This record gives sequence, structure tokens and C-alpha cells, in this order.
Amino acid sequence: MAKIIAGIGTSHVPAIGVAVDQGLTQEPYWKPLFDGYGPVRDWMAQAKPDVVILVYNDHCVAFSPASIPTFAIGVGDEFKPADEGWGPRPVPVVKGDSALSWHLAESLVLDEFDLTIMNQMEVDHGLTVPLSITCGQPKEWPFKVVPIEVNVVLFPQPTGRRCFALGRAIRKAVEAYPEDLRVVVFGTGGMSHQIHGERAGLINKAWDTAFLDDLTADPQRLTAMPHVEYMREAGAEGIEMIMWLIMRGALGDDTKEVYRHYHVPASNTAAGLIVLENR
Ligand code: DHB
Ligand code: FE
Repeated sequence: MAKIIAGIGTSHVPAIGVAVDQGLTQEPYWKPLFDGYGPVRDWMAQAKPDVVILVYNDHCVAFSPASIPTFAIGVGDEFKPADEGWGPRPVPVVKGDSALSWHLAESLVLDEFDLTIMNQMEVDHGLTVPLSITCGQPKEWPFKVVPIEVNVVLFPQPTGRRCFALGRAIRKAVEAYPEDLRVVVFGTGGMSHQIHGERAGLINKAWDTAFLDDLTADPQRLTAMPHVEYMREAGAEGIEMIMWLIMRGALGDDTKEVYRHYHVPASNTAAGLIVLENR
């Protein structure tokens, strides 16, 4: 049977992808951030997942702002990097696991999570930067990816509680899949950041630290957090953190934090990363 072995939460700051693509990771500005990514790359190389279920948000790149699904799942065999204005990132095409995606789609819809089914979909920095952070620059990504897209860019966004429940339903679906697959779930985006308006540049280290602590210790506190608290404490784009709760919901009650990295600055954003093993 398929099994979720771990969850990874990570920021997706586009400038991190640019630093990788342009060979800047050893520059003084970027080195402390990338030094902290070494252990997670080692962990991934050892864990060797067959599939990553990658929960992410599109930034009105592949989806037009005219129609953004609250939740969507990519069911294709591949997902091409999207052109965000400077051409697509020079990274490998993301390979899907269509059979697992369709299994998840069916199980989730029958569990009353009405995800939009995406037969074709391009993927922006929200999906490709977490791959670069955890894998570096391989010729091919070393696992298949099932993309699950969440609307965090247009009002109204789903609640943290709904995201956590979706994670639980993902776990149930994975555990009912007959193939012996090692699955890691990624929750991406965040951490505290605001990239526009009067509060642009807002970072809240105390709030970010408490969020990372409670992913393991008290996820129920996080699922009860209202959107206005994300906005006030973590900046307008801090709402991306609700996607980490899907990852957390997909893990069991007994999880162990095995690695954490937190660094400011990364562009306008507090970059965070956490690895949680399922026990
Ligand atoms: C930045 C962060 C994001 O999450 C994003 O989607 C775009 C830009 C930034 O900090 O520059
Ligand atoms: Fe973002």
C-alpha cells in the first residue's frame, strides 16, 4: 500500500529560484539561506520518495484571475514550468503520476472535497521553487509530483480548518492506494510576508516561530486561527501558510520534527522550512 512517510513545509520565494537558476547561491546574500537547505536535500536523497503530493498556490500565472478554483488537482502526466514574465524557469518538466492523481480525485470528491480536475496545467514558482529548494538542480526531478492547487490569492480563501480536513482526506486516499509508494506531502508558501502597500516588507519572527512550533505541538490552535490573524500578524501574503495545514493534516497525530531552517531576508519574505516525519 502507499504510505505517507513525511511532510515538508517550505517557502516558495521566486527570488530563491532565480538565485538557483543564475548560480548565485554562494553569494554573501544567499549563502546563509542555502547552507540551511543542505540537510533537507540530504534527507530527501535518503528518504527517496516515489511521489510528492505538492500543495501550492498559483499566483494568477497558469490560472487567470477570472477563474481561480478554491482547490484543484493536476491529473496529467506532466506539468510544464509557466512563463511568469521572464520566460519559463530553466528547470525540468514536472512529471505527474496520473493514476494516483485520479485515485485521489475520486476519493476526495467522494469525501465531499469538490476539487477542480486539471487535465492540463502549467506550474509557477509556487510549485517549482520548493522543488529547487529540496532537490537542487538535477537533470530530472527524482520523483513524480501530484500538484494540489489552493486559492490564497483572491478573496475568499478556504479556512485553515478546511485545509487541515483536506489533508486528512488526502491521507485516507493515499492509504487506500494499492501500489507500494513512498509519499511525501509538501505544504508551501509563506512565511510572514507582505509584498505590496504600506506594510510591504513586514516580517514577524515571533509569529513564524510559534507557527513552526505548533505544527508539531498544537496543530489544532493553528486550524482555529482566523484569516484576519494571518493578515495582521504575518502580512497579507502570510495567508499562504494555510497550505502548510493541508500537509499537517495528511500526517498522523504522532509526528516528529526532524529539521527546521528559518532565515531572513529572502527577498521580502521570511523563508522557513520544516521536515516532519510520520511515526
Ligand atoms: C515574494 C514572495 C512570494 O511568496 C511571492 O509569491 C512573490 C514574491 C517576495 O518576497 O518577493
Ligand atoms: Fe507567493
